[in-house]
Amino acid sequence: MLSIINRQGTGAMVSTGPTLDRLTPSAVRLAGIRKSYGAVEAVSGIDLEVRTGEFLTLLGPSGSGKTTTLMMIAGFERPSVGQVYINGVDCTGLPAHRRNLSMVFQNYALFPHRTVARNVAFPLEMRRRTRAQIEQGVAEALAAVRLTGFEDRLPTQLSGGQQQRVALARAIGFGPSILLMDEPLGALDKNLREQVQLEIKDLQRRLGVSVIYVTHDQHEALTMSDRIVVMNQGRIEQVDTPETIYQTPKSRFVAGFLGAANFIEAEVIENRPPAMSRVRVGDDLLLTAENPAGVAVGKPITFAIRPERIEMLPAKGSDPRLETFAAKITQAIFMGDSTFYIAEASRLRLQVKVANGGRAYRPAAGDEVALGWAPGDLVVLAD
Ligand SMILES: Nc1ncnc2c1ncn2[C@@H]1O[C@H](COP(=O)(O)OP(=O)(O)OP(=O)(O)O)[C@@H](O)[C@H]1O
Ligand SMILES: [Mg+2]
Repeated sequence: MLSIINRQGTGAMVSTGPTLDRLTPSAVRLAGIRKSYGAVEAVSGIDLEVRTGEFLTLLGPSGSGKTTTLMMIAGFERPSVGQVYINGVDCTGLPAHRRNLSMVFQNYALFPHRTVARNVAFPLEMRRRTRAQIEQGVAEALAAVRLTGFEDRLPTQLSGGQQQRVALARAIGFGPSILLMDEPLGALDKNLREQVQLEIKDLQRRLGVSVIYVTHDQHEALTMSDRIVVMNQGRIEQVDTPETIYQTPKSRFVAGFLGAANFIEAEVIENRPPAMSRVRVGDDLLLTAENPAGVAVGKPITFAIRPERIEMLPAKGSDPRLETFAAKITQAIFMGDSTFYIAEASRLRLQVKVANGGRAYRPAAGDEVALGWAPGDLVVLAD
């Protein structure tokens, strides 16, 4: 099955008439979207703007509402509450085939008895394009996914990666301005997935098309996206660039969902304006940390730090740039490019990751060490 669309501007044919959203409209804008299925609230209040030409990824665990959100943008589901604007036009009540977008599904959904060329031609035929337009559209789309020469093959005569590229060619063949993709690489093995990720990203840049991409794979989201939307239980937790999401997660959920994170629960014991605090972990470990929200003395505060941000030094070692404290290694696991440690200090149990490439200090289980970080490496969480 394939979705569908007309050229931009068909919104003018909606019976209620189009509502112009903004002077410079975003590709997609979701305003106060909710979706319930009976008692199940699949999406519970989403506001989101997708910029024109942007690669935006919806990332979240199973059941967080990613597919439901995409289906409402595509027009296969109607929101219970809220508006969907596409290229500035209110399309909330518009069926899928009247929106200027296209969707690629996880299982490709190629027509098994149609050749590659006729699969790609299908959406153009549906739009009643002329024979010459169809031939040109097919040729351009196949060239874009590097499948020129495969026109006469059947889907069964293609590898998984090639089938996925045919699905992609079929989706872009009629020139939609927005491409929706729901876990499109889920069926491919890791190496092929990484290769097709780069191809999709490259294609998106060349065509200048806006992409809304759904995945639950954090690495895929980090490598492909201009911005990532982290979803949890039908809500948005954070929208930011991959680097900001990874380095400055706002919540425990985001920190834990994208990569490994240590959480440090502490109590503020002294504030040093403008934004520094002394905090205590357990009974005896005192640390300096940034406290931009100004959590008051006596109140709890939670920090996150990535395993690779923690520096490890020989016991009693110090570094003027770092705040250091004593710890003991309880586990050391060799992982090829890095070594993964569990270190204990007071009541803290920290994961530490050290790259194996350089000449970094690499202790063994049972060793006493010093751990350290710069105060700014601790990220304050909102929860
Ligand atoms: N047609 C439906 N009827 C009832 N509940 C539904 C329906 N579609 C989705 N849901 C529920 O809504 C929630 C969100 O589902 P959705 O498919 O959007 O999640 P997802 O983030 O795409 O998950 P996955 O990663 O597993 O694909 C889930 O709890 C799901 O069970
Ligand atoms: Mg899904």
